[in-house]
Amino acid sequence: MLEVVTRPTMAFLYGSALFSFCSMLNVVQVCSLFLRPISRRLFFEVNARVAGSMWKVMQMIMEKRHKAAITFSGDKIPRNESALVFGNHRSFVDFYMFHSVAARRGMLNYMNYFAKDSLKYIPFYGWGMWIMGILFISRNWQQDQLKINKLFAQILDLQAPVWIASFLEGSRLTPSKLAASQKFMLGRGLPLLSNVLMPRTKGFIACVNKFRGSHVKCVYDFTFAYYHKTKGFGVPPNLVRVHTGQLSPEYKFHVHVKRYLIEDLPTDDEKLSEWVVQKYVEKDAFLEQMKESWTDGIEGGVWTEKW
Ligand SMILES: *[C@@H]1O[C@H](CO)[C@@H](O)[C@H](O)[C@H]1NC(C)=O
Repeated sequence: MLEVVTRPTMAFLYGSALFSFCSMLNVVQVCSLFLRPISRRLFFEVNARVAGSMWKVMQMIMEKRHKAAITFSGDKIPRNESALVFGNHRSFVDFYMFHSVAARRGMLNYMNYFAKDSLKYIPFYGWGMWIMGILFISRNWQQDQLKINKLFAQILDLQAPVWIASFLEGSRLTPSKLAASQKFMLGRGLPLLSNVLMPRTKGFIACVNKFRGSHVKCVYDFTFAYYHKTKGFGVPPNLVRVHTGQLSPEYKFHVHVKRYLIEDLPTDDEKLSEWVVQKYVEKDAFLEQMKESWTDGIEGGVWTEKW
């Protein structure tokens, strides 16, 4: 019987199950609104747990049920530490990669995303993310600014634990996006990157400036890499594939993290922008090396970690 269930059908089933779960969680969220006047902290915590349980279910499907083989390298991240986090963006699977570390460091409940508005329209998953309160960024800066300021004020006011995550490239890496980005790099005399797009630094700089001197003291720079048994480097499973059967040994996943203190970053906006670009230059070189030898040449070693 199981063999006749096609992959899209299975993804559809998982999708609707997750969406139903999400909608149920949403009921809890709506109920928690009554808590807000009593305790904003408790309201925050309830909503964090609700969102966290959604991420946890998704992560368990990928890592435990479908046995995704994820390796890690770079800096050891402390537990329970708030941070601004960014990573390269190739696929929807990048969310799972952020979560692989967040789950192991007690931060899965505290993910906050800036995501592109169009993600909202992915059937089930996008809707779920929308319900989960992902901050979708439109092109309307004023509207976005209001939403962002409200969120940040709340985080600062409650000294709430957070990972504020974004993909600074603005969109997923595709051949056409890369070609356009490279044209831009050449035109501006910027370094030519071939494994990532040129990052947009404005939003990140605003973020750093907002949290300087607060309880959010760190920036984590993530690099995600994917490997497919026959298609090779840079090929992640798609959303359907994540939900249809064992991922190992067909796919390999790698997460590299660098940790920086905000107080050590340049205070000048221009210099901070250059710093971000420099991180993407390093990311590009790192990925270029991984393209050659996967995790073999990584300095400081590679490890796996139970979750
Ligand atoms: C992290 O937070 C959890 C839950 O609040 C707590 O139980 C745990 O002891 C904390 N761990 C560290 C290392 O602070």
